[in-house]
Amino acid sequence: MKPERGPEELISAMTIHNRVKEMGQMITKDYQGERPILLGLLKGSFIFMADLCRSIDLDTDVDFMEVTSYGTQQTSSGIVRIVKDLTESITDRHVILVEDIIDTGLTLNHIIGSIQLKKPASLKVAALLVKYKKHNLQYPIEYMGFEIEDRFVVGYGMDASHHFRNLPWIGTLDSEQSVRG
Ligand code: IMP
Repeated sequence: MKPERGPEELISAMTIHNRVKEMGQMITKDYQGERPILLGLLKGSFIFMADLCRSIDLDTDVDFMEVTSYGTQQTSSGIVRIVKDLTESITDRHVILVEDIIDTGLTLNHIIGSIQLKKPASLKVAALLVKYKKHNLQYPIEYMGFEIEDRFVVGYGMDASHHFRNLPWIGTLDSEQSVRG
């Protein structure tokens, strides 16, 4: 069900645009002479992925994975099931994992574990948002867009019960309306 009240703007479209551009420039500098593969986690990362790859001035490859998390609607259990797997081989490739938001870090811990089994040449994380709290991510976040408060956000690809993904900006929902999509 769509939350009754709409989200309040937290990060404007222009601020997102500028930051994603900077992240792309950092990646361009760090991967000179390489052809990295951007690996987006669906569905939340699809808009960030599209903007980030266009901000990188290198020949890049892209692929996607989709996972579902077992747990309640509000909390991630960290036990995830891969519902769409990679279509490219990432063995000996430079992989940049592209994630919309890191909350507890449990989803990414699980995914990184399974990606590492495929023996990439390197693996780095690019996350648009990281909730400013003690998350349990066991890996460094090399490219981070923004640190935000521990609030539920929507827009720019992120949803609440399958709503608000197409907002061009990022907004917050009241906590009682905040359910994972
Ligand atoms: P984690 O495993 O707790 O880090 O959760 C990561 C995943 O939960 C993200 O990829 C999102 O799909 C979802 N998620 C976590 N926080 C939010 C939020 O505030 N808004 C929308 N989705 C969220």
